Amino acid sequence: MTSTTSPTWWRGAVVYQIYVRSFADSGTRGVAGVGDLPGITSRLPYLRDLGVDAVWITPFYTSPQNDHGYDVADYRDVDDLFGTLTDADDLVAEAHDLGLKVIVDLVPNHTSSEHEWFRAALAAGPGSPERARYLFRDGRGEDGAEPPNNWPSVFGGPAWTRVPDGQWYLNLFDSTQPDLDWRNPEVGDMFVDVLRFWLDRDVDGFRVDVAHGLYKEESLRDQVVEDGASADEPKESMVSRTVRDEPMWDQPEVHDVYRRWHDVLAEYDGDRMNVAEAWTQTPESMAKFVRSEEMSQAFNFSWLLADWSAEAFADVITGTFAALADVDASPTWVLSNHDVIRHVTRYGGGQAGLSRARAATLTMLALPGSSYLYQGEELGLEQVDVAPEDRQDPSWFRTGEVGRDGCRVPIPWSGTSAPYGFGPGDDQPWIPQPDDWAPLTAEAQTGDEDSTLEFYRRALAARRTLSPADGVDVSVEGDLLTVTRGDLRVVLNCGDADVELPAGDVVLTSGPVSDRLPADTAVWLR
Ligand code: NOJ
Repeated sequence: MTSTTSPTWWRGAVVYQIYVRSFADSGTRGVAGVGDLPGITSRLPYLRDLGVDAVWITPFYTSPQNDHGYDVADYRDVDDLFGTLTDADDLVAEAHDLGLKVIVDLVPNHTSSEHEWFRAALAAGPGSPERARYLFRDGRGEDGAEPPNNWPSVFGGPAWTRVPDGQWYLNLFDSTQPDLDWRNPEVGDMFVDVLRFWLDRDVDGFRVDVAHGLYKEESLRDQVVEDGASADEPKESMVSRTVRDEPMWDQPEVHDVYRRWHDVLAEYDGDRMNVAEAWTQTPESMAKFVRSEEMSQAFNFSWLLADWSAEAFADVITGTFAALADVDASPTWVLSNHDVIRHVTRYGGGQAGLSRARAATLTMLALPGSSYLYQGEELGLEQVDVAPEDRQDPSWFRTGEVGRDGCRVPIPWSGTSAPYGFGPGDDQPWIPQPDDWAPLTAEAQTGDEDSTLEFYRRALAARRTLSPADGVDVSVEGDLLTVTRGDLRVVLNCGDADVELPAGDVVLTSGPVSDRLPADTAVWLR
């Protein structure tokens, strides 16, 4: 397997995801206890020192915050909660001064129900051009009282909401997130303007939300649900699904959008990029999003979804490179984000979970391509068991199932009790932090060579010594995964027992190593 040698910055970048509400509160904008843009700016030196190349910032646009910003009411402004357009400009300028790129989130599948287009659609009534920007339909059954089809919302319940005049509109997520009709050219034109608005403000790229979702099968036919599966059963996570027939996702027309956006990005200097959040059913269909005239990258959730086994990790690496080979795209790797259970917890939690998390991270960081990190993973944070009265995920309100709040708890910076330096004073954050986070603050971990934070700093520095030109070879022997890249050999022990440390000079380890390589540990050797 060879990797490409393109100098394009994003092909090998480490991108740090900032969940804006939960990163840092400057205390000067919006509401105390909610992170904001000046808070991010003030912490950029921490990220430079951590050793990342870029930040991806989740949506900070005007929004009623029903899905914490993924419900955008104005794509061209900053919500008062987070600051102002000037704050956004300052953030981008400061990041660039520090050598960091800035990727912003773009949410094109749906708007907020408070977007001016949707308000106009409600006011204008059935058959109007205003309604034609969304997917309004008459219902089925007597008096149209049944939804137009059987599609489920990703957040639970039906994907349709009825309005007082009797029509229904499609919302694949929350009912406050009406889906746009991308077959209406006005929609595409609007988003090109939005792209230009932020490109003109000097952002380096876009993370494209629900990139596989913009077009729906034109008939809006029922989804075929196989025996044993249920169209509205709770999803394992945002990134894995069980029903195979999907007329609402991954339609061929969506690629025209990304070809158009490719041309827009190419008009700007500085290698502007985009990365698709596209949950496709197969690696081959994922690869279509990153053909050379389309998007720069797509998230590869298979690393995140893989079982803890050498075989599974090897299959993911091999399968990823095989799928991308024909399109000459660079892979991406990710273990955590704001939609999934933090990987320390996925791997069992406690010390064992942390050991596995660090080992998986060290292995991932050796792979050619980009790695996306999620804020707080460098501190070894676990998923928090958020009390029912503190949960705020819209899927919790729609289904009563524990949602994604547990990975969104504001991160601890310093001090010995909440809010752990999250804001300037004692105001408590929008989701309460656990009592036992004092040893996990960035301050407490700094200088402690055994800490997860210092481990990440070492690993990111060592990663810079890898040659982008080197591809990888993968082999499995029992529970041992070996990844060879140039003169680097990474060995990951997924078994229960320690094994003899393979020969070579130890560059870096994910945990303590002697002449034996313990279980749940990875080592870089030269
Ligand atoms: C994916 C985002 O990551 C998630 O947080 C959001 O709820 C949905 N898209 C809907 O925009």
